[in-house]
Amino acid sequence: MNLARVRKKERIGERFVLLEIEDRDIATQAQPGQFVMVRPFEGVYDPLLPRPFAILRAEGNCFAILFEIVGRGTSLLSRLEPGNELYVLGPLGRGFSLEAPSAILIAGGRGIVPLVFLALELTKRATPFSFFLGVRERKELALLRILDGISEISWSCEERVTGGFCGTVLELFKKHFDATLKGDVRIYACGPEGMLQALSKILTGREETTEVSLEARMGCGFGVCLGCAIPRRDGGYWHVCSDGPVFKLSEVVL
Ligand SMILES: Cc1cc2nc3c(=O)[nH]c(=O)nc-3n(C[C@H](O)[C@H](O)[C@H](O)COP(=O)(O)OP(=O)(O)OC[C@H]3O[C@@H](n4cnc5c(N)ncnc54)[C@H](O)[C@@H]3O)c2cc1C
Ligand code: FES
Repeated sequence: MNLARVRKKERIGERFVLLEIEDRDIATQAQPGQFVMVRPFEGVYDPLLPRPFAILRAEGNCFAILFEIVGRGTSLLSRLEPGNELYVLGPLGRGFSLEAPSAILIAGGRGIVPLVFLALELTKRATPFSFFLGVRERKELALLRILDGISEISWSCEERVTGGFCGTVLELFKKHFDATLKGDVRIYACGPEGMLQALSKILTGREETTEVSLEARMGCGFGVCLGCAIPRRDGGYWHVCSDGPVFKLSEVVL
């Protein structure tokens, strides 16, 4: 792991933290859908393992991650301030394919992170796309802030709010289903397991042109500890860290 430095920190609502981190190698090599393993410098053995996070964006000498505070590791990382050091390893894994004539991006909660990087890349390539974001609670709508500069966004919230669709992101997506799925379109999704399972049922017959980014518990992040194994559609196992985290729907059992 390399020692890197926090350049900037931003709180996004109550539950999310965005860290901009200086590391020229990661920033110049990162591709949408890839991830990094991160560990605070202080208290190196507590928690013992580094934690995986998707890359939100990369520019110049810096890349950014955005994480939800859910446990001990993310809570320690949320206390880092600009100037603090941390260990980083990456970019890791297989990202999204970028050759799409047109695209639909579907994010649930923190699944927004790798899809923002993808949306920025598709914008550069002038690939037309629609972006659907769904959150459960009103307070997660703070995430909309990181979509600044990205067009064609529709969002949903399971709590009643004004300005968006009330329900799940898949209900919202289904409302646009006929209009958005015409022609040669690639679908990219990232979100909770239940959302991806439901999406795979809606998209029966489109498994080859749908890519999902998966989460798994990870120890090493590069194929050694075998902690992240998931079943393959055709038998055997994938390692989410080195074979993924992005897979075609046709490759995995959700
Ligand atoms: C490739 C990849 C990319 C990721 N990208 C992001 C991201 O961009 N933003 C973000 O907020 N999170 C992301 N995650 C999830 C993130 O790694 C976990 O939330 C984090 O490791 C939790 O660490 P913790 O010590 O705070 O929680 P712990 O104390 O270890 O666990 C707290 C809770 O989170 C659950 N959990 C922990 N790790 C995972 C995991 N890997 N997958 C699913 N549930 C988990 C535990 O079961 C437990 O319920 C990603 C995970 C992977 C594998
Ligand atoms: S995390 Fe160690 S093999 Fe995947």
